[in-house]
Amino acid sequence: MRATRKEISQAVDILRRGGLVAFPTETVYGLGADASNAAAVKKLYAVKRRTADHPVIVHFDSAARAFTWAREVPEAAAKLAKKFWPGPLTLVLKRSPLAPDFVTGGQDSIGMRVPSHPIAHELLAEFGGGVAAPSANRFGLVSPTTVAHVREDLGADVELVLEGGASEVGIESTIVDLSSGQATVLRPGRISAAEIAAVAGPVAEKREDSPRHSGGLERHYAPRTPAILVPTQDLDREIAKRKDKVAVLAFSRPDERVDFWLRMPRDANAYAHKLYGALRELDTAGCEAILIEAPPSDAVWSAVLDRLRRACG
Ligand code: TXA
Ligand code: MG
Repeated sequence: MRATRKEISQAVDILRRGGLVAFPTETVYGLGADASNAAAVKKLYAVKRRTADHPVIVHFDSAARAFTWAREVPEAAAKLAKKFWPGPLTLVLKRSPLAPDFVTGGQDSIGMRVPSHPIAHELLAEFGGGVAAPSANRFGLVSPTTVAHVREDLGADVELVLEGGASEVGIESTIVDLSSGQATVLRPGRISAAEIAAVAGPVAEKREDSPRHSGGLERHYAPRTPAILVPTQDLDREIAKRKDKVAVLAFSRPDERVDFWLRMPRDANAYAHKLYGALRELDTAGCEAILIEAPPSDAVWSAVLDRLRRACG
């Protein structure tokens, strides 16, 4: 079930010669390239089908190493790193000369993260540098949370995929921008804005798709089948309305009119853990639409709600 030491060393060799490896993290599987190697990052963007002006998160084995890629480490960043690293948090800081244009999308800031998954940690420690790693799927589609998902999406385009089980968190890291003035949550995740504020002081919340981040201008984290967010009280009516087959992702028990029904947990973290696998499964059912029962609107659901909104385009 877990990649061996030998496979991890092989992965390090591949990274050193400019190749791509997929590896598990606690959030989603990443597609990694040597973040200091222009040709390797170019290949990474080609496989992802991502435009060069879209910044990528660089992964490190420790805060000490990560911070060498920042020219300023505000006190809030040091505190957040101490509290949440290794873990599902990305910090955006002013970049140092070590952070090249081709990973920052030409911006003066760098997104960095120290993941907690033991396989990711071993890989990064043995590699000893920064590894650029977006989620290991084609641009715009649902992120992978298992090795099977990575293989489905990238096939032979990735030399080696390290096995690390199903990603525990299941959705991408919380991104906090500390590169200018006020701390801002750019992407909600398992670590909530309130938890960030408790450590770093007041934070603003901004959606990732502000024009500064080109990736946000396109539909993100979306299945191919049209997905629709439906309030609980309208679910029955929406199902009745459809002529063709529909798939449903809901909290309640299956309705016998629906062939493809996945029941989701009422706990937000458990829901996030299952979300991308569930969307992938329903996406293969060949339905007219995926109806998604809207979760409660309280803060613990904000990261899940963010991904559901994106899935619905
Ligand atoms: O959970 C995760 O963070 C996953 C796993 C693999 O670690 N990685 C991931 O990476 O989601 P990536 O490269 O897809 O994240 C890109 C997003 C951008 O869309 C942007 O929002 C933010 O990270 N970002 C990265 N660098 C940035 C920068 N310099 N300034 C502002 N935002 C940045
Ligand atoms: Mg992604």
